[in-house]
Amino acid sequence: MLSIVAIAVGYLLGSISFSYLFGKWFKGIDIRKHGSGNAGATNTLRVLGKGPAITVLLLDGLKGIIAVLLGQWAGGDNLWIPVLCGLAAIIGHNWPVYFGFRGGKGIATTIGVMATLAFLPTLFAGLLAIAIIALTRYVSLGSLLLTAILPFFLWGMGRPVEILWFSVIVAIFAFARHRANIAKLLQGKENKIGTKKA
Ligand code: G3P
Repeated sequence: MLSIVAIAVGYLLGSISFSYLFGKWFKGIDIRKHGSGNAGATNTLRVLGKGPAITVLLLDGLKGIIAVLLGQWAGGDNLWIPVLCGLAAIIGHNWPVYFGFRGGKGIATTIGVMATLAFLPTLFAGLLAIAIIALTRYVSLGSLLLTAILPFFLWGMGRPVEILWFSVIVAIFAFARHRANIAKLLQGKENKIGTKKA
């Protein structure tokens, strides 16, 4: 019962869309109607600027961290509970109950979740993703790379099979949520950070 409550709390926590709230608080706008239309840190950077974007990135990541910690506390030795709490937070971020089920793409929350479950593999995958973003200025490409290579790092570094499978599901989620970005990347029309055009 405690585990089910923890998973539900993970979803409710994940549903707090900080980019949406910041858009409303700072500019009185719905961020989903501006820039790329995504309720996430990258679009916050485009629409609201650096400070709010970094804050959104940290807060969206923190949702994932708290959800997993809650799951670890509720689940004891059962690793599936923190995994499911993390998944619930990502689902909440992508389909938030408070905001008409229209949220973000889940990357910042995924980083928080995966870093709490498996810190070093996530750090290494994250560093590679940052390098790709720095080189190409495509955040979406870095996000996709991060989730695509994470299962290999987890496998290579001998992390538990529950986390490995979970990372595969997370990658499928990320690719599904980035469909439009993938199409634009292939057409060479994807937005680069540091440019005004959305
Ligand atoms: O994490 C989201 C990022 O990968 C892409 O965001 O706003 O460019 O679609 P956006």
